[in-house]
Amino acid sequence: MRRRLAAWALAALLVGSGGAAIGQSLQDKIAQCAACHGADGRSSDPRIPHIGGQPKLAVMYQLFFYREGRRKSEEMNLIAKELTDAELTAIAEHVAKLPAPTPVADAKDDARYERAAELAAQRMCASCHNADFSGREQMPRLAGQHEAYLVKALQDYRAGARVGTQAAMAEAVRGLTDGDFADLAYFLARVQP
Ligand code: HEC
Ligand code: HEC
Repeated sequence: MRRRLAAWALAALLVGSGGAAIGQSLQDKIAQCAACHGADGRSSDPRIPHIGGQPKLAVMYQLFFYREGRRKSEEMNLIAKELTDAELTAIAEHVAKLPAPTPVADAKDDARYERAAELAAQRMCASCHNADFSGREQMPRLAGQHEAYLVKALQDYRAGARVGTQAAMAEAVRGLTDGDFADLAYFLARVQP
């Protein structure tokens, strides 16, 4: 489903630009992001992350990792490949100013939420991601992020498929199970700033 949607968006984007990404203005490149990440940086597809409200540096790092092929994603590797350093910085600045995602506000399972909050406290997640999980510097915002995306990110760190600047995340998730990841994602998607 994600793959189909993303492929469609990507095709639309290439056709829309006449197949020529070269010479596009910065505004054109920023406009492309909306096809997948939503007009205001809030995506409606649970496998595509919300990007609004991310710290500027966190966005710069991830775009850089995608461009260099250090972080793998069919869609993002293709998009980032076209970005110069200056564009990458300008785009990150723009993205950081978009509104942060709204946390899920459903009748939450309090026991599950508390269990995950306890696990996050044990693992000191907030020491890097901020007490309200808003992120800072190269540490991404986690509050209000899509659960499915968070689970995939945590699995990627555990598997060594995603490596940041340091081994911080591999350390943080060591020994955690898929059940723990599901609970942590449940908590983070709902945590109130
Ligand atoms: C064709 C769909 C598509 C387009 C267009 C697209 N993205 Fe993405 N983006 C994705 C997907 C899918 C992921 C998650 C990939 C993964 O799991 O690593 C992602 C991930 C990201 C991330 C990482 C977020 C995080 O929390 O680590 C950033 C930053 C990002 N995109 C920014 C952009 C920007 C800026 C643009 C426009 C220049 C853009 N994207 C265009 C699909 C897209
Ligand atoms: C020592 C600092 C540190 C600690 C502790 C830490 N993180 Fe992180 N986290 C980071 C950094 C740095 C990144 C960005 C790494 C990269 O470039 O991929 C990150 C990235 C993430 C991401 C990817 C977000 C995205 O948008 O793609 C998730 C999810 C995450 N952390 C969750 C957690 C959870 C849950 C915990 C506690 C179990 C935790 N982190 C503990 C530093 C930390």
